[in-house]
Parts: sequence; C-alpha cells; structure tokens
Amino acid sequence: MVIISPSLLSCDFARMGEEVTRMEEAGAQWMHIDVMDGHFVPNITIGAPVLKSLKKQMNSLADVHLMISDPLKYAEDFAKAGADYITFHVESDSDPVETIERIRELGCHPSISVKPMTPAEVIFPYLDKVDMVLVMTVEPGFGGQSFMADMMPKVKAIREECNRRGLYDMHIQVDGGIDTVTIGEAAKAGADVFVSGSAIFRAPDAAAIIKELKEKATV
Ligand code: DX5
Ligand code: ZN
Repeated sequence: MVIISPSLLSCDFARMGEEVTRMEEAGAQWMHIDVMDGHFVPNITIGAPVLKSLKKQMNSLADVHLMISDPLKYAEDFAKAGADYITFHVESDSDPVETIERIRELGCHPSISVKPMTPAEVIFPYLDKVDMVLVMTVEPGFGGQSFMADMMPKVKAIREECNRRGLYDMHIQVDGGIDTVTIGEAAKAGADVFVSGSAIFRAPDAAAIIKELKEKATV
C-alpha cells in the first residue's frame, strides 16, 4: 500500500491543528513531524510538546523524524507525546542498537535514516531490528529542496537486501523533493512511504494532489 505522509514543516504553523485535519480529510494516512535541534542540522523546528497538543485531535499516525544529535536522550519524550514511528539518523551521536531497542521498549516503531552521503551498507547491520528505513532524498534541514534522483540506487539496494533477508514488511520511506513528477521513480526503486511537504501544502487542492501522488506511486 502507498502511504502519504505530509511534512508539517511546510504547513501554516499558526494553524497546525487545522492543517492536520485538512490533510487527513484529503487522504493522508500519516503525518510527518520534522524535529530539528540546530545542531545535527542548521535549523530549529518543533519539539515533543507540540506533538502532544496535536495528538489530541489527530487520527493519522505520528511519523516523527528526529534530526537531532542525541535521539536516545529524547526518544521517551516523543513516545510519551504520542509518536507512532520514531526515525533517528545513523549519523547521530547515539548508539544505533541502543536507540532502536529503546524506541521499541517505549512502544513505538523504530526507524533508521541515512543522509545522502551515507552509503546503504551502513544500515544493513540494523535491518532486522527496525520497522522502517528512511532514505533522505535531500540534505536534511529544510523543506523545498530538489529531489536527488541519484539516491534511487540506494533505495533499490536496501529493498533488495530486505527481500533477501525475508523482511517483506519493511517500510522504505523517502523524504525530500517528492512531488507528482518524482514519486514514480522512488516507488519503482522500492519506496512505499512518501513524505511530501512543499508539493502538498502549496497545492490548491490537497485531496487532488494526494490522490495523484498515490496513483503515480502505484507500480
Ligand atoms: C527535510 C525534512 C523534510 C522536508 C520535506 O530536512 O526532513 O521532511 O520537510 O519537504 P519537501 O517535500 O518540501 O522537500
Ligand atoms: Zn523529514
């Protein structure tokens, strides 16, 4: 199944709750929440208290993307705030195995992410322990950047390795520059969860663009 996870980074921050409802009514199954600490990436966004408030009126799954230096330290805050999936970066300072186990213990789905310069093989040792892999298709930090098509062999390599190990339920998420033009290529490479910020939020009709994204990702 194709899953669309609108990145709230591109929404109107003054009306976040309404934006979540608008996306859910438009057909989005997950909500992507970009957490940045101004240290792991050169930008600061939102934290666990914002997620906690949103959760009170959210029906979709909370897909939390931690772009922070110490995800192990903050995993509990996000789990308590209502995260369903917690993604952290293999390039962070936290021990990957410890972080994955902690996220699982907290009752959330653990997910590991790779930045564009990090090769696929770096996360192979953790594949059997996670429920999702996030392949960044832009340098993390900002919305509205261009899709890096040269990340597609990485998506393909991870999907093939998962299949080789019998991990057929693994989600592979792509994040950055996903729109109605780029989504087909990412789906063909093996992705099934698609984060899209600027393309969805700048569209005049959210339901129409989410429908088109789902159609173009059906391979
Ligand atoms: C970038 C964030 C993305 C971003 C995607 O660091 O992780 O989730 O908001 O935005 P678009 O779809 O505009 O590239
Ligand atoms: Zn993200």
